[in-house]
Amino acid sequence: MVSRRGFIFGSIGVGSAVIVGGGIGKATQNGLFSAGEGDGFAAWDESLEGMSGIAAAGVLAASSHNTQPWSFRVSDDGIDVLGDRKRLMGAADPRLRELHISLGCAIENMAVAAAAQGLATDVEIVRGGSGHFARLTFKPGLIDKEYAALAEQIPLRSTNRGAYDADRAPGSRELSALSACAAGVSLKLLSSAEERSAFSALTVAATEVHVADAEMQRDSHAWYRMTQAEVERYQDGITIDGAAAGIVGTTFLKMFPPTPDAFDEQWAKVTGETHCATAPMFGLLVASTAGDHAAWIAAGRAYQRIQLEATRLGIATHPLSQSLAVRDRDLARGERNTFAEALDSYAEGGEVVLAFRLGYPKADVPRSPRRALADSSI
Ligand SMILES: Cc1cc2nc3c(=O)[nH]c(=O)nc-3n(C[C@H](O)[C@H](O)[C@H](O)COP(=O)(O)O)c2cc1C
Repeated sequence: MVSRRGFIFGSIGVGSAVIVGGGIGKATQNGLFSAGEGDGFAAWDESLEGMSGIAAAGVLAASSHNTQPWSFRVSDDGIDVLGDRKRLMGAADPRLRELHISLGCAIENMAVAAAAQGLATDVEIVRGGSGHFARLTFKPGLIDKEYAALAEQIPLRSTNRGAYDADRAPGSRELSALSACAAGVSLKLLSSAEERSAFSALTVAATEVHVADAEMQRDSHAWYRMTQAEVERYQDGITIDGAAAGIVGTTFLKMFPPTPDAFDEQWAKVTGETHCATAPMFGLLVASTAGDHAAWIAAGRAYQRIQLEATRLGIATHPLSQSLAVRDRDLARGERNTFAEALDSYAEGGEVVLAFRLGYPKADVPRSPRRALADSSI
């Protein structure tokens, strides 16, 4: 005969099993066992050969919130890079700084893919706010072999938001290779304990301002894809896998996709406890003039090249844009806040245009989704 106690515990056990079983079912539906698989990830396996292959490399570039804010017009003699108005970040990028950097990232991936085909890329920046940002033309030329070899890294690169080895900073050889990638802007590295602590404090404080701002939160979360159905439908945005929350965290998030408030609370926590605390160093891309759109595109090219070189060296990178986004929010209203003051102290009269951490990651991360080239072209 089953005792009363045994019956109660038995019932709790069955109840828990049903809840856990249901949760695992939900997590499985949300891609627990199929991270990085499916149509939303097919772009990573496309050929990078020929003119359409060059454009396909552009699709694989980093972009803020994975908005993929580009539209490519591919012709026999070149590729026009246009912006996509439906893919802007509103209050989360009011000066369009991140839009320009993202387009610069795509341009650099295309230039590297072209180099692998023996083609030199001429980039003509189009000014004037028409939505047409650059025209790329290609011609056979003398190509730097190491630059061309970076093409192998294009499908391997990703943003790693997990923990890094805080005690292992990239060495001077690696750092000079990365600094050499920063054409058109300069790379400032923050590696001493004081420098890291000051930039961490700035980033954590900015994250708190960011999550408390309803418009920034709304326009950021428009790009969060918390279920597999959303990932498959939109093939863009920030995913649960992209958060690099580890197996337990990822399983939990896939069982119980978070609300924007819950996500932001966790984001603020990991920004301090993981992103900043485990970073052996931070990198700042600094332009010599503030508000220069061409310099923002140059910064995107530099950052994409840095990521490719870093991938080759086994080094992970992860932008931390919070302090810049909060600076830009007020600059766009004609006000300079404390984040502007702090960032300017690094810029020697210029402007910090991108901030990121770099180091040796504790674990790899799955790929992020991409729209097909056909959906990114006109
Ligand atoms: C201009 C720019 C700003 C970015 N800012 C952040 C950021 O603040 N936090 C973050 O986690 N990722 C940031 N990223 C990384 C993108 O979210 C990432 O590139 C995108 O989700 C695609 O993922 P992938 O790089 O792994 O392919 C930024 C990327 C760019 C180009």
